[in-house]
Amino acid sequence: MSQPMALVTGGAGGMGLATVERLARDGFSVVMVDRDAALANQETQRLQALGLDVQCRVLDLTDETAVRDLIRTLPPISALVNNAGIFDERQFLEVTTADFRRAYEVNLIAVATLTQEVAKTMADGGRIVNIASRAYLGARNHPHYVASKAAVVGYTRASAMELAPRGILVNAIAPGLIDTPLLRSLSPERLAQQLALQPTGKAGLPQDIAQAVSFLVSPLTSFITGQVLFVDGGKSLGGSGS
Ligand SMILES: NC(=O)c1ccc[n+]([C@@H]2O[C@H](COP(=O)([O-])OP(=O)(O)OC[C@H]3O[C@@H](n4cnc5c(N)ncnc54)[C@H](O)[C@@H]3O)[C@@H](O)[C@H]2O)c1
Repeated sequence: MSQPMALVTGGAGGMGLATVERLARDGFSVVMVDRDAALANQETQRLQALGLDVQCRVLDLTDETAVRDLIRTLPPISALVNNAGIFDERQFLEVTTADFRRAYEVNLIAVATLTQEVAKTMADGGRIVNIASRAYLGARNHPHYVASKAAVVGYTRASAMELAPRGILVNAIAPGLIDTPLLRSLSPERLAQQLALQPTGKAGLPQDIAQAVSFLVSPLTSFITGQVLFVDGGKSLGGSGS
């Protein structure tokens, strides 16, 4: 019997890459989708050299035609992980409509487009995991990002209701600070500020997210849908931990 297929977006980056490896080790045939051709090819070759069943497709997820063509050329997906996302910092009074549009294009609309395409052929009992952010609860200096991730949570809940009759479970993960290239794009001062607010005093690892995804797409769950799993070292508890 052929292996079930998983598709992970943003699979060449920090937590996406950890998730690709985790799901391949779990026995999925994994397709990593990313717009960074060099990194996607390099990481795919590295994982294949480890004997893992991983392939990559290079495209920009905001290109609807490319997304539709991709899904047309793949067998039905059993597990979809909408992980790709963009983050940048803007002061509340300086964020522009263009900033909002870009955040929504990648973080929400691309997720919805791909989910719709994948859901058309996904077998009953499939799994979808959307990577939101702990920041959807509220955070300073990136209102466009916060709003786009809150929208991801809303879309997760809507998808869960729509797809439940087919036994397809849809959940979100809300990561806190995770040590990835995205986090390292913060200035050292902002990073130190963020770490100081972290109850555990440190950032999580991409593998922390990968393990949570692995659980949510595994047969260990069959009755969890429309939920947000915080993987954030306690940041969502609200205190500074100090
Ligand atoms: N790192 C954190 O602390 C943190 C915290 C909360 C949530 N998140 C979310 O987790 C997810 C993964 O974050 P990360 O830290 O691993 O980021 P990352 O920047 O390391 O990786 C993101 C990957 O997505 C790809 N990508 C971005 N836009 C794309 C597009 N339009 N088409 C195709 N590929 C695209 C990038 O090329 C990159 O490889 C994102 O949705 C992010 O918002 C991250």
